[in-house]
Amino acid sequence: MKILKNISLQCLSVHIGSQILDHKPYERMLKTVSSIISKTKYKFKFIDLGGGMGISYSDKIKNLNYKKYNSAIRDFLKKHDTKIIFEPGRSIIGNTGTLISKIIYIKDGGAKKFVILDAAMNDLMRPALYGAVHKILPVNKSKNVSKNIYEFVGPICESTDKFVTLKKFQKLKEKDFIAICDVGAYGMSLSSNYNLRPKPVELLIKGRTIKIIKNRQKHKDII
Ligand SMILES: Cc1ncc(COP(=O)(O)O)c(C=O)c1O
Repeated sequence: MKILKNISLQCLSVHIGSQILDHKPYERMLKTVSSIISKTKYKFKFIDLGGGMGISYSDKIKNLNYKKYNSAIRDFLKKHDTKIIFEPGRSIIGNTGTLISKIIYIKDGGAKKFVILDAAMNDLMRPALYGAVHKILPVNKSKNVSKNIYEFVGPICESTDKFVTLKKFQKLKEKDFIAICDVGAYGMSLSSNYNLRPKPVELLIKGRTIKIIKNRQKHKDII
């Protein structure tokens, strides 16, 4: 207990949120931390700035400007003799994960076609949980563009079991594979066995080396 008390007194920790793409909230955070240090006149050995650095989930959205965040931290360190700790999550692993899924059925819904995948909201919860949009790419590219609107959905009987609706996607057929991008953070860690759905196999790919890091679950593993 005494040790814990000593460590916590040496460190001031903040974490202002997640998926932050603007450097300005970080500048404001550093100003606030700076004024806390000045007011308390306490010498913290460490300042933990937390995580929250956002990533771009779409080609249209820019990444966080790390140069500007870095320069705000440098200005802060000119005033305070301390060591900085970060708690990055998504910014390190967000774009390293891809969910590969097979099309099990294409349902005709008039102007819209429902592309039913073998992946569902239990495998990637972010779209159902807070409306997150992930880029979807075809695994085998073709130049054949579909005139239909494609709604990519899972096979679970829930209105939220959908990923994204896209126009001008390449023509798809059953048994084609698609890749759901940037699922490295809050992907597998938020997944569940909802609807008794076993979790998929997890592969680690480095260059040409492929390793199974988690086996595909079987029903007997979850019952
Ligand atoms: C205290 C704390 N630190 C770090 C993180 C990681 O955040 P991110 O993945 O947005 O970088 C979280 C996420 O909720 C958090 O609560």
